[in-house]
Formats: sequence, C-alpha cells, structure tokens
Amino acid sequence: MCGIVAYVGPKEAYPIIIEGLKRLEYRGYDSAGVSIINGGMHTFKCKGKVLDLEKIIEQDKVHGTLGMGHTRWATHGAPNDINAHPHLSGDSNLAIIHNGIIENYSTLRTALEKLGHTFVSETDTEVLIHLIEEIRNTEDLPLEEATRRALTKVVGAYAIVVLDKNDPNKIVGAKNSSPLVFGLGEKEFFLASDASPIVKFTDKVIYLEDEEIITIHRDGDYEIRTIENEVADPEIKQIDLNIEELEKGGYEHFMLKEIYQQPLTIAESMRGRLSADEGWAKLGGMEQHLNRFKQAKRIVLTACGTSWHAAMIAEYLFEDLARIPTEVEYASEFRYRNPIISPDDVIIALSQSGETADTLAAINLAKSKGAFIYGIVNNVGSTIARTTDSGSYIHCGPEIGVASTKAFTSQLTVLTLMAIILGYEKGKISEGYYRQLLSELESVPSLVAKILTKADQIKYIASEIRNTSNALYLGRGYNFPVALEGALKLKEISYIHAEGYPAAEMKHGPIALIDMYMPVVVIATNKSAHEKIVSNIQEVKARKGIVVAVVTEGDHIIKGMADFTIEIPYIEEPLSPLLSVVPLQLLSYYIAVMRGCHVDQPRNLAKSVTVE
Ligand code: F6R
Repeated sequence: MCGIVAYVGPKEAYPIIIEGLKRLEYRGYDSAGVSIINGGMHTFKCKGKVLDLEKIIEQDKVHGTLGMGHTRWATHGAPNDINAHPHLSGDSNLAIIHNGIIENYSTLRTALEKLGHTFVSETDTEVLIHLIEEIRNTEDLPLEEATRRALTKVVGAYAIVVLDKNDPNKIVGAKNSSPLVFGLGEKEFFLASDASPIVKFTDKVIYLEDEEIITIHRDGDYEIRTIENEVADPEIKQIDLNIEELEKGGYEHFMLKEIYQQPLTIAESMRGRLSADEGWAKLGGMEQHLNRFKQAKRIVLTACGTSWHAAMIAEYLFEDLARIPTEVEYASEFRYRNPIISPDDVIIALSQSGETADTLAAINLAKSKGAFIYGIVNNVGSTIARTTDSGSYIHCGPEIGVASTKAFTSQLTVLTLMAIILGYEKGKISEGYYRQLLSELESVPSLVAKILTKADQIKYIASEIRNTSNALYLGRGYNFPVALEGALKLKEISYIHAEGYPAAEMKHGPIALIDMYMPVVVIATNKSAHEKIVSNIQEVKARKGIVVAVVTEGDHIIKGMADFTIEIPYIEEPLSPLLSVVPLQLLSYYIAVMRGCHVDQPRNLAKSVTVE
C-alpha cells in the first residue's frame, strides 16, 4: 500500500525523504509527493514514480529540516496529480499524508461541505485534513489534539502524518490498522511505514500500536497518546536490518536477487531448527505449544496470494505426514463467511509482510472465537507477528520485489518442518522416514543452487514462448499449488493471462483452450503419479499444445514427449515444491524482462496490501 516517511532533525529533509520514498516504493508507485516546511509549506506531487517527482521539484523550495513524503497505491480516486498526497487543508496551513482507507469519508465530506469546506481531490485523505482543520480552528487546539479528536470521528484504517506550516518544529503521526514506525536517531527523528527508510540512521524504533497518536518535537521530546487521550508507555526496540539487504547488490532487479538468494534464505529459515545427523528438529514458537498442535482437531491455514499457495501445500503436508485434518482459507473469504471455529482448532496465518489487512482480520475473527493462532511471518515486529499467540519467523530478509519468491520457499521450509515434527511427535511417520525427510530438507539449499545454474536454459525457453497471450500450468498433488503459484508469477509480472489447474482437471474444461499457440507448463516431478502425468501430457500434445515440463533428472519418458524440459534433482515428494517452484520463478522473470515489463513494480500491484 502507500509508503510514508517523515523527518525532523538538523539535516536537509528532502534528500532523506526522497531516498526513503525510493525504499518504500515497493508499497505503491501510482503517484508520489513531498511537503517541506521552510517559511511555508512547499508541496510537490505528481502522478508516477519517485523519479517523476524528482523531475518536477524546484530545488530552491525544498531546503528545510522538517518534511514528509508519500508514495501512493490508489484506493479512492484515480492515480493523478491532484489525488497524489500530500493533501492540504482549506487554508493550506496543514498537510497530510495517509496510508489506508477512511470508510466513512463520504458522510464526513458531506458534513464538512455544509460547513463551507470545498475539496479539490476525490480522495478520502483530503476529507481527513479538512476535518482536522475544522476542529483545530473551531476549538483553537494544538495540532495533535485536533488530530486526536478528528480520529475519534473516523472509521477505517490509517497511518498518517500531519504537518502545520506555522509550527515548523513538530510532526504529528497516528495509526490504526496500517503500520507506522517511529525512528529515534541522534537528534533526528523519523516516522515511516516500515523501518527501511530509517535503518541507515538508527536502529532504535517504536512500533506504534493501533489508535495511538505521536507528537514529535524537534528537540527530541515525544509523546504517544491513545485515541482516548491516555499517555502510552511504548517500548523502544532494536531493529536487526542492514542497509545491504535493501540494495539490489549488483542484480538487475530485486526479484532476480531474491530468486538467487534462495539457497541462502532457505538455509536461514532452518538455521538452528534441525539436525538430521542428530535426529532432532524444533521450532521455538511451536515447542511451547506442542500439545495444542498434537491435540488439534483441525488445522486451518489462512492467507492471501502467494502465501495462500504455501498454505495449500501445507494442507498436503499436514494431512499426509501428520494425519491432522487441515483446511485452507482465503483470509478475505474466511473473515466474512461466518466460519465454524472452535477452541480446539489451531489457526495458522501466513504473511510475508505481516501487514495484510484481510489476513489480520481473519486472525482477529478466529481469536474472538477462542482459537489458538500461530503466525508464519517474515517481517519482524509486524502487526500480524504481534497479533498472533505464537509463531515462527521465516527469516528470509526483506523481500522487496513485488512478486514474492524467496518468502514462498521460506514459508514452505517452515511449514515442511512443522509437518515433519508433528508427524514424528504423533507417531505417524517412522524414525527412519523422519530422519530421511530432515536430511533431504537440509540438502534443499544446495539443490536449489543447482537448479539456478540452469538459468540460461530457462531463459531460452522464455524466449520461445514470450509472445503468448495465455498459458496453462498443470500439476498434481503437492505440485498442484505450485502450478497455481507459477501461473500467478507469470500473470503478475508479465501480464500474460495464465491459469493453474490440477493436471487431471484439464479435461473437464481447460482442454478446450489448447491449440498450437498455447504453452502448457507441467510440473511433472511426482513419482506417485508419473504415469498419470504422462497421460495428461499426451492429451496436451494430441491437441498440439506446447509442453514445457519440469521433470526429475533422468526422466527420459517425459523428455521424449515435451517440447522443452527443465530437469531438477530428485527429492521426496513432500519436499518437491521447494525445488519445482524455482524454475517457474525464473521462467516468469525472463518472460517479463523480455516483454519489457517493470518486474519489481508490476502495474496495479503493491507489496503490502493493508486495505481490504
Ligand atoms: C504475489 C504476492 C501476493 C502476496 C499477497 C499476500 O507474488 O506477493 O500475492 O503473496 O498479497 O501478502 P503477504 O504474504 O504479505 O500477506
């Protein structure tokens, strides 16, 4: 969603804000804007990316040591110059940037119009700054108090920063549902949507809680109050993030860097969590609640997008290895469909960002029904990580490319480990198989590294099919969700229409689409269903479809039938998604690059979806 950054301190604010916006651009890139206070409020904003904003800046007007910036993912109102943030109050004294949605903005707007306010944009955000202005001017209140009172009238999600041109030593921020981090540097202070614009300057942060309002004074005094006007007692935390993790490190795109990081990130996800030689595996967050897991009548996994695909693979893992009935739910459906949840259920919520609004709402719903909630999250200290009862971080480092890659394989690593532990603890898998699975899991990083050496071959396949308008992805069993993930990767970054299907379902409909122009990517590594997949490939070939098959090394049968094959090393089937997804990530990446698409910032998408 939108990215927010604000600065006050002894340095020039503008370069710090622009650099911060570039780091936050993964959250949205429909438009960008800044306001700098220096003898007045100097605001520049435009449709497009931060680079476009830099082109329209009048350098002499952006000198100043207090300011804020915003990069937008449009919700209310089209992405254009007028709807870009910051938005100003009617008297132009106040400016606001906002991430989230004000749900009752229409009622508020009508009421304010009756009081004589006029609006220039279509946004909900402009309504909020007029409301603050109205309260402040009518009751002659300090900015923070006017903001607090305004927020008591607001329904919705927000992270906001508000500035007053007549008070050049103060920044006011507030949050509800959308994240906001306060950074405490050496005589300089920051507010941001996440720590990425802050880490260069300080590792001390406070994560604001919902319905908290912060007032930061230039001299370093700060105060956090709740919306009920009680003084909060926040904890200063140390962030463990270094600046190199936020750079491309010589790769052309973050997505490519993140694909190539996977041997390392998968290893990080298991570090200190297993030893096949010694025959043990543990996850700290799970160990404390092992009985809850062992006695669970049911596991329900909930997530969105790619995280939902990881959850689907977990359904196969938990049922196959641990024999625990498992269901998978789109968080957006779960939260509204009045699901039956009992205190015996274990709910596992997956989220890379830890901020996805639908996943958070699903967690809160399950919590209200007494279920135990386990989080599998990447972003340390994120809202979901803090809301769940227990959990495991996936430790893959910041994922900046909008298309999720390394987070997916790290989620799978943790889920696989959970299933192996539960299978063993429940006596559903033998000691021998337990050790074998652990040992194979330990070998995954080196096997992924081996697959990555096939990049040129995958690039060649990409060049052969890049002009297609449609593609079909087929897989069976553990690799059916991988087919869904492969299709999602292709559509989100190359804008090619792609669908994933269980291979055997093809004949119930999608087969009608197959002709000589249709690439069909088949994940054909399953030992258990090999013959059936061979038949599915024959059905495609009989209709002249172009088959790209991901096969196990040495599979000459499928090699002889497919137009293109990508061989990957053999691994036990429950672990196979960890390998089979990697060539699909590379295939999508190369196709998107060859089509001239903006791989790291695909159109209409944002990395962290903090609105419904
Ligand atoms: C796809 C992608 C999205 C996210 C989804 C959930 O590549 O990145 O589908 O997986 O928005 O996000 P998280 O995992 O942050 O909750």
